[in-house]
Amino acid sequence: DPARAPAGMFISADQPTRSVRAARRGERTWLVAVGGAFKPGQPDAARRNFDELVRDLRRDHGVGEIGYAWTNEDFESMDGLPFVGRASSSSPHLYVATGFNAWGITNGTAAGMILADLIVGRANPWAEVFDATRIKPAAGARTFLSENLGVGAKLVEGYVKGRERSLEALPPGSAAVLKLGGKRTAAFRDEQGQVHAVSAVCTHLNCILGWNPVDRTWDCPCHGSRFAPDGSVLHGPATKPLERREPS
Ligand code: FES
Repeated sequence: DPARAPAGMFISADQPTRSVRAARRGERTWLVAVGGAFKPGQPDAARRNFDELVRDLRRDHGVGEIGYAWTNEDFESMDGLPFVGRASSSSPHLYVATGFNAWGITNGTAAGMILADLIVGRANPWAEVFDATRIKPAAGARTFLSENLGVGAKLVEGYVKGRERSLEALPPGSAAVLKLGGKRTAAFRDEQGQVHAVSAVCTHLNCILGWNPVDRTWDCPCHGSRFAPDGSVLHGPATKPLERREPS
């Protein structure tokens, strides 16, 4: 309902996070909405986030047809602040700016100012707080441990679960990690019935991938690599494609 389109860009202060803005193109008014978070490789959470977001948009803004839907990854540091500055003390001319946690417009601008000052040798009052080489075990250790226990659990779960379902049981438009011929295989059957089968083991550090039903990608729960159904790399840190498997 265009009459209920927001007049500006808004983000909720409470949970679940919701951000909305209107975009007008010709006669049409679109609502661009962001909300929900999930860790890579959690297909149920990805789907649930979308269902809840759409439900809220229909209720609060009278949204009709959903034109486009996609997921995105954001890098977040353990203490919540970006890393900006020299990458290491031994590489004085190598700079880094990362960990913006979805606040790229503001954090990216601040990063640009810090880096410009560092390069020309000017003092910058924020540089120390954002220091890319800072080590803050006290601030980050608890989160780091719990996050990585989660990653470890995913890694182990992926290996021990070993669902022995067959390819035949895979309906069109769906995907599963199957054990085929003793090997973990990531299989996706498209709407035409063709099966796309690749290794389910991430080429970065061997975690087992999970299906992302929103973007139709294989996502890694450990460090966020993403692969297309044909195994090609969409997003690092992995650089090598997944090995193809014969779907038989
Ligand atoms: Fe997959 Fe690191 S093991 S991204």
